[in-house]
Amino acid sequence: MSKLNVVVLYDRWDEPADESAATDKAPITRTLDKKEVEDEVAETLGKLGHEATLHVLDGSVKSLHAIARLECDLMFNLAESFGGNDTADYCIAGYLELLDKRFTGSGSHGLLFGQDKAAAKKILEFHGVHTPVFARSFRGRLDFSHDLEFPVIVKPAREDGSIGIEFSSVVTSIRELMERIDWLHANFDSPVLIEEFVEGREMYVGVLGNEHPEALPVIELDLSKLPEGTPRIAGAEVKWGKGTRAYRDTKSAIAEGLPDETAALLQQTAIAVYQALELRDYARIDMRLRPDGRVAVIEANPNPWLASKAEFAMAARKAGRNYTQLIEAILDLALARYA
Ligand SMILES: Nc1ncnc2c1ncn2[C@@H]1O[C@H](COP(=O)(O)OP(=O)(O)O)[C@@H](O)[C@H]1O
Ligand SMILES: [Mg+2]
Repeated sequence: MSKLNVVVLYDRWDEPADESAATDKAPITRTLDKKEVEDEVAETLGKLGHEATLHVLDGSVKSLHAIARLECDLMFNLAESFGGNDTADYCIAGYLELLDKRFTGSGSHGLLFGQDKAAAKKILEFHGVHTPVFARSFRGRLDFSHDLEFPVIVKPAREDGSIGIEFSSVVTSIRELMERIDWLHANFDSPVLIEEFVEGREMYVGVLGNEHPEALPVIELDLSKLPEGTPRIAGAEVKWGKGTRAYRDTKSAIAEGLPDETAALLQQTAIAVYQALELRDYARIDMRLRPDGRVAVIEANPNPWLASKAEFAMAARKAGRNYTQLIEAILDLALARYA
């Protein structure tokens, strides 16, 4: 392939000093350690013989204007937020679409469906894909069409990275439920999802491709070593609580001991979700394997974290693609769309 001029688009912003962060009641927030995935991707593009330039979206209008003026063959879109707003990913893709820029990963529709968990669940139900039953509360209105039984998990419908999901999100009484809904309404401008809590193993399946999407080997996040008495969930403590047992004792790895038909069911389900939600190029679908063998879809992650140490690259490696080959595959998938 001839040498391409690729812009690696990523997001970074200065966290404003937040007084509420000092209280125990403030949500646990994301920390920036991402061994700068944008550097890894840019370096790899260089190894593939391309010219890679980094462009940061820092929440300023200037950083948006600069994109409009950038000349390149393709943008490698790693941007997940704008100025700290995690719900802006689909708007960024929409902006690139308006500018007629070519970019990797899902388009604005896929990113929106991936972001809005309640909307995604409604679409998935239409396609016969099983997701836990739920209710949705937003600005004083409650949407529901099923009975719910405790325990339930209460989470923001439009965040990711487990922001707003902590051990106390799993509730077993009306009082805890009301407290948690109230806390989420106070801290997030997002509908609240009140969802059946599904016991079971936590499984992730990466999907790569477009016309013929390929499901990667199943990854399991082992939550069995969480401290006694804490719910088995990958909440903010597990993802961001550096220095705690919850963070240290939870690891993802290729799932062991899965019967072939169970692995195949997880992979087929992941592809069904990928297609139903109009995802593109690459995504990771998070599921729970119920003790009775049924698969419950928890959420879809378009453009999942692409660090070489993250689950997606781990699964690709198991399937025989090293990191360089993975980045090349994503690049080729995106280029084929614009050919
Ligand atoms: N219905 C559920 N039943 C059991 N665990 C859940 C459920 N929903 C979420 N979780 C747990 O919480 C974690 C984070 O939830 P998720 O919906 O994936 O949010 P995020 O988009 O922030 O990653 C999941 O990985 C899982 O461990
Ligand atoms: Mg998740």
